Amino acid sequence: MTSLSIYDENASVLSFDISSYQDLVSKLGEIGVEFERWNANIPLAEDATPDIVLNAYQKDIERINQRYGFKSVDVVSLYPSHPQRVEFREKFLAEHTHSDFEVRFFVEGQALFYLHVGNLVYLVLCEQGDLISVPANTPHWFDMGESPDFKAIRFFSTPDGWVANFTGEEIARKFPSFDGYRLKLSSN
Ligand SMILES: [Fe+2]
Repeated sequence: MTSLSIYDENASVLSFDISSYQDLVSKLGEIGVEFERWNANIPLAEDATPDIVLNAYQKDIERINQRYGFKSVDVVSLYPSHPQRVEFREKFLAEHTHSDFEVRFFVEGQALFYLHVGNLVYLVLCEQGDLISVPANTPHWFDMGESPDFKAIRFFSTPDGWVANFTGEEIARKFPSFDGYRLKLSSN
């Protein structure tokens, strides 16, 4: 299940495991993040190429592009035996911003977004079917865990695709990892 928890910057929990759709939409809306749940049920091979993933969801991509006017799109696809899983995980784990507005559509699996807004950090465990936006210039990071298993289509409002400005902050270390957060949820 998609789950939102709100922490302060010192990693103390303020609200834990908000999972009703209306609450997710409204809490994320307060920080300018759009959240929607779409259908994503097309079977894909673990190592499906980006083109296969983009073709499978072509209609959804067109709908999203029509709504937002995105200029480029790509696919992030990780699986437990992916040869570059450690390297990819490290890259997204560091706090960064993007100067453009971006959207992610999760078509398989789960991963955890951390959005740092003011003195709060919003942890959003996203899963298959979730559509979530990342507002321009919002510091954030992302964890896929030690054994990543997800596919997400990424939409960019510039033709350049994914360009990150790393903040150099070490804040991510204070927060539960993807695996740690899932454990907390299951023991709650
Ligand atoms: Fe990012």
